[in-house]
Amino acid sequence: MYLTKEQLGMLHGEEGEAVAYSMRIQEGLGRVFGAKRMVPITRAHVALSAQDADLWFVEKLVNMGGRCRIAPTVNPSIDIDYLNRHLAEVPDTGKEIVSKTNVAYRKIGAQLTFDCTPYLQQNVPAYGEVIAFSESSATPYVNSVIGARTNRESSQSALCAAITGLVPEYGLLLDEKRKAEIFVDVRADIKDDFDYQLLGWCYPLIYKGPEVPAFVGIAERATPEGFMNFGAQLNTSGATGLYHIVGITPEAPDIKHAFAGKEPKKKVIIERRDLDAVRERICGKPGRIDFAMFGCPHLSIRQVADIARICRGRRFSVDVWVLTSSLTKELAARMGFLDIINRAGGHIVADTCIDVPPCWWPYYGKSAVTDSPKCAYYNEIRKIDFKIRPLEQAVEAALIGEVRI
Ligand code: F3S
Repeated sequence: MYLTKEQLGMLHGEEGEAVAYSMRIQEGLGRVFGAKRMVPITRAHVALSAQDADLWFVEKLVNMGGRCRIAPTVNPSIDIDYLNRHLAEVPDTGKEIVSKTNVAYRKIGAQLTFDCTPYLQQNVPAYGEVIAFSESSATPYVNSVIGARTNRESSQSALCAAITGLVPEYGLLLDEKRKAEIFVDVRADIKDDFDYQLLGWCYPLIYKGPEVPAFVGIAERATPEGFMNFGAQLNTSGATGLYHIVGITPEAPDIKHAFAGKEPKKKVIIERRDLDAVRERICGKPGRIDFAMFGCPHLSIRQVADIARICRGRRFSVDVWVLTSSLTKELAARMGFLDIINRAGGHIVADTCIDVPPCWWPYYGKSAVTDSPKCAYYNEIRKIDFKIRPLEQAVEAALIGEVRI
């Protein structure tokens, strides 16, 4: 891979140990993926996880004197104070790792946004912008819906990019690698955000390859939340960093552009019965629940408003957790939604992930409802039996303490 004189200097330590270390990792990645050069980035998002490996890596860079050239936004962690007050004392191991993680990311110069939907607020790229994003819903959203360019970075490679301000140019940064190869014929009416969850989970079960898919036959543009759900599930049950929806997403105005005039390598058909089969397989049977959890990925203000509308003047029968960014929580407070949800007995908690050190321990082994397949899947290891339903149905279930349909 060609490196400029300045980049060679970075690699050989002229800008400090952390830059050299990051460049070594990035140069290695570039060689593995056949990059010819490094290119500058304008944004980064690091999928901080407040877990051991994540902390080890960021502290290592901090101890080398690392400082981000491009201040990345970061994923959620835990609002320890809120959970201590309203759920249960977070165990000391959890408190320690969270506070050390926060300190390390502050020192390295990250923006402590603690939010997994940076593309909706705070870190929104433009079409064609070259960036380094990690996080499952973020990569497909910025690539597919906006037309920015990022590979599926790990949290470590995104942090290296934030330190050097560069990425190796390969994969989804290149025009030719952004063209579709898989023709996905959607023969089902995709009518709401939940259908996007199911479609996103379904496609990788039918076709597992890494090629870029183009979905054909979807008539209406999804809401931002529909796109968010779609990408989150595509990148949880599979590994899709970029998709096109022909006639809707910016790089696929028609089939010819989506496939660069070439024949698709493969055709995949998805029918309503495939989505129904996914629903049957992952959504769980009706039954009583102990709590409800929403916000994986973090909810938008529109979704928070939907929950407030449904629970206004009513009372939840079980604990309800609504996870979102601190900005959205503040907006929800201004707009009265926080008050409505609190009066119904629910919580809005900012900065917090469903998959973090043991803050959710009182719920291990219990039953719950969510609207997110990703939330259900990640919590299988904690033996939480999540039933998955569309947001409205799930909120209704939390009001009566039971999933009836
Ligand atoms: Fe966000 Fe954590 Fe889910 S980062 S998408 S709440 S697993």
